[in-house]
Amino acid sequence: MWNYSEKVLELFYHPRNQGVIEDQGEPEYAVSRGEVGSIACGDALRLHLKIEIASDKIVDAKFQTFGCTSAIASSSALTEMVKGLTLDEALAITNRDIANYLGGLPEQKMHCSVMGQEALEKAIYNYRGIALPEHEEDEGSLVCTCFGVSGERLRKVIKENRLTTAEQVMSYVKAGGGCGSCLSVIDDILASCHFPAGMTNLQKINKIQTTLESLRPYLQADGGDVELFDVENDRVLVILKGACGSCASSLDTLKGLIEERLRQEVLASLTVEAV
Ligand code: FES
Repeated sequence: MWNYSEKVLELFYHPRNQGVIEDQGEPEYAVSRGEVGSIACGDALRLHLKIEIASDKIVDAKFQTFGCTSAIASSSALTEMVKGLTLDEALAITNRDIANYLGGLPEQKMHCSVMGQEALEKAIYNYRGIALPEHEEDEGSLVCTCFGVSGERLRKVIKENRLTTAEQVMSYVKAGGGCGSCLSVIDDILASCHFPAGMTNLQKINKIQTTLESLRPYLQADGGDVELFDVENDRVLVILKGACGSCASSLDTLKGLIEERLRQEVLASLTVEAV
């Protein structure tokens, strides 16, 4: 059972903007579509955008998806986020923005947010008549043929999400999760995307502390709290207090909220344990 945020569940049970946008032939508007995913692996998304030509703004957005809870929620979130934006503003949306709008997604479900961002990019590129940087149909550019993932796409997702392991890459774009023959290339790409030389130990601890401080009001609102106990390399040891310590879903709080947030804000390799 996945630990979904309330926002994910709300948008799953009551999806917004599900459906299609037909081109009504209105001269001041254009309708564009972006499609990603494959029926073979279970997730597919078609995004419809209605664009006001003069202002370059998205005035309506709808989606159709074959997908799980996270795919429906991510698609709903995306359509809500883009309405009223110019195309350039919409292009600046990352998969991480979609996940943040949802109050987070389980890491194994992050590929749904990636699918949303890619469908958006495709719809806008289609409207502008721009070819995508690499055509996934071109076998030569593919790193993972099982899931049709190019090296360009891998590098983008790795950098935007600061991924460090092949396992994370699988969670975000599925690459490597089939026959596995691409795993050594994925490792090479991960190694080539090294992030700027890191923080000092003191900077890392300060950043962890600041991030925990920013989470405390949410935990306190539910009668809980968290305190930093120690940091041993990439192991962050915390004390869960009040309701957080005794609550049956304390592991969800620890991993789904605290660990996930620290990985986003501080370092993707951090793990969090309660003492
Ligand atoms: S080629 Fe990537 S998993 Fe098969």
